[in-house]
Amino acid sequence: MSDQTATGTDQQAEGRTFSPPTDFVQNAVARPSLYEEAERDRLAFWRSRAMLLSWKTPFTETLDWSQAPVARWFADGTLNAAYNAVDRHVESGHGGQTALIGEYEDGTSTTYTYTQVKDEISRMANVLADMGVRTGDRVAIYLPMIPEAVFAMLACARIGAPHSVVFGGFSADALRSRIEDAEARAVITADGQFRRGKALPLKPAVDAALAAGAPSVEKVLVVRRTGEDVDWTEGRDIWWHEAREQASTEHEPVWVEAEHPLFILYTSGTTGKPKGIVHTTGGYLTQASYTHRAVFDLKPSHDVYWCTADVGWVTGHTYVVYGPMTNRATQVIYEGTPDSPHQGRWWEIVQKHQVSLFYSSPTAIRTAMKWGEQIPAEYDLGSLRLLGSVGEAINPEAWMWYHRVIGGERCPIVDTWWQTETGGIMISPLPGITSTKPGSAQVPLPGISAEVLDEAGEPVADGESGYLVLTEPWPGMLRGIWGDPERFEDTYWSRFPGRYFAGDGARKDEDGDIWLLGRVDDVMNISGHRLSTMEIESALVGHEWVAEAAVVGASDETTGQAAVAFVILRSGTEDAVAAAGGEEAAAQALREHVKTEIGPIARPKKVLLVNELPKTRSGKIMRRLLRDVAEDREVGDTQTLADSSVMDKIQRGLSGTSS
Ligand code: PRX
Repeated sequence: MSDQTATGTDQQAEGRTFSPPTDFVQNAVARPSLYEEAERDRLAFWRSRAMLLSWKTPFTETLDWSQAPVARWFADGTLNAAYNAVDRHVESGHGGQTALIGEYEDGTSTTYTYTQVKDEISRMANVLADMGVRTGDRVAIYLPMIPEAVFAMLACARIGAPHSVVFGGFSADALRSRIEDAEARAVITADGQFRRGKALPLKPAVDAALAAGAPSVEKVLVVRRTGEDVDWTEGRDIWWHEAREQASTEHEPVWVEAEHPLFILYTSGTTGKPKGIVHTTGGYLTQASYTHRAVFDLKPSHDVYWCTADVGWVTGHTYVVYGPMTNRATQVIYEGTPDSPHQGRWWEIVQKHQVSLFYSSPTAIRTAMKWGEQIPAEYDLGSLRLLGSVGEAINPEAWMWYHRVIGGERCPIVDTWWQTETGGIMISPLPGITSTKPGSAQVPLPGISAEVLDEAGEPVADGESGYLVLTEPWPGMLRGIWGDPERFEDTYWSRFPGRYFAGDGARKDEDGDIWLLGRVDDVMNISGHRLSTMEIESALVGHEWVAEAAVVGASDETTGQAAVAFVILRSGTEDAVAAAGGEEAAAQALREHVKTEIGPIARPKKVLLVNELPKTRSGKIMRRLLRDVAEDREVGDTQTLADSSVMDKIQRGLSGTSS
């Protein structure tokens, strides 16, 4: 989003602020004293946040940073995440409160109370135990956005088996590599999922992944969702609905140490191989719970909360499962797309369930803007009282639209900056306290210390840009990359020793508020999802026609960024390309290839066939120049190129003239 803050509109937007509505000032969960409390004694602040969880054995130590950069928080305490998310609400007399409203695309829904969720996850925990899953074993979850996905995560948490959720849109190969990296013992999946009115298969991808490798997997638990026929491996595959019948609703949670891993979640880095981000139980849950309550102003007995993220991403972990449920929220989850069966579907759901707190992404807002404000206008959105945004910087125009059209000019907007690695929200306005500025995430939350540094590692002055870092450990921080401690240190802690380097550029405005400027590495942000250019390049060079590939993230009006690939075909592939229908058809086939290899979200928007790529004398591809081409700009400085005529050739080639 770096280009956006430089535009005239943004400069004007920066001057615009929105004071918190009076009712928020009076009644908000977050009080201004939170900042003072955290400022006075940061560790004491976190200690009291952690004490809001239910501990089996109370902790005595807050932070052990002696093995930095691996933190240990509340390490001598024991607890269970599922107990905190569910059982304790039942025990305190709220078992009858609705926990989950599972809404489906066809307009039907199922509702589960906290007592029912407790029964479901206890049953599933018993089934997993029968399948041989033990505390510490990893379990891969590959499910659509249905209540069973939440049950599966909490059932794993209940027995202390770290889950590794793999987004249902990822390919069999992406699933296999994640299962192999984590050496998962079991997989929980479904026969299929519904999307745009069609039943799409899911289990076949698990079958393919297990046929190709992943020998650690012993059992596959299968949720029946679509009822379509699926292949069955006797002795390995188990139907959830059958096992469930036999399973007891009694299950004693396994009390684990605070630093016991709760989950692994894979995310893209700068290399081709995704990294397994490890989160542990006590610290992560503390931050999930505190941030959810404070940022979303949750009033458990009144609010209906809806976060549109899929559990395949970190937002679905922290702000669908662990945050809202430890706070006893009533929430909607939705299996389906925003435009099926019609483009008003999301707003229809808000109206139907009287959603009051709504958390979504800039890309979704921009898509809704494109469809037109007459669509949300057909629904009564009067129940909404707070709106959130995550995944990338929200451009002021989209912020204003969200504020006016969806929020009826009365709802505060929380633009929340965080990452898979941070576990929970780090920088965000607090409703009732912060006067918001369209396009800026603004201020670190109480307890969080962030800074913007220049190249030399010195804090920039207000009005200047630099690199975003986090200067003090926080409870929800990642504890490492699964199986790769060296990569953990290199990626986050080597650029500015002693400080966590987030990989994002940022600017501090004249008031010291933070504006995120986008990634400074080779990671793209497409529709709020992280993808590395290298990951897509590896998929492309895996195709028999491709000699070399370079991928860049080009600005895109709706998705924020889009992948554009520059591909050099191998010599001798001319006949194959002709047989495929020519260059255009070949480019199309390569786009599809990436989709098959990684998943639909990774499919490049454009594949451009070129004869050369711009490289420095040391052989490094100059993506900056390719980005200029992809964004239709004048090509920048080409002096460091080994062959300065390459860019001319690329452009001539693309415009159809021969060199
Ligand atoms: O570049 C930042 C962007 O998303 C990255 C983190 O991606 P991921 O780990 O997939 O988590 C996304 C959901 C938390 C960040 O490095 N990002 C996320 N939220 C914002 C953002 N950029 C600007 N403003 C945000 N609110």
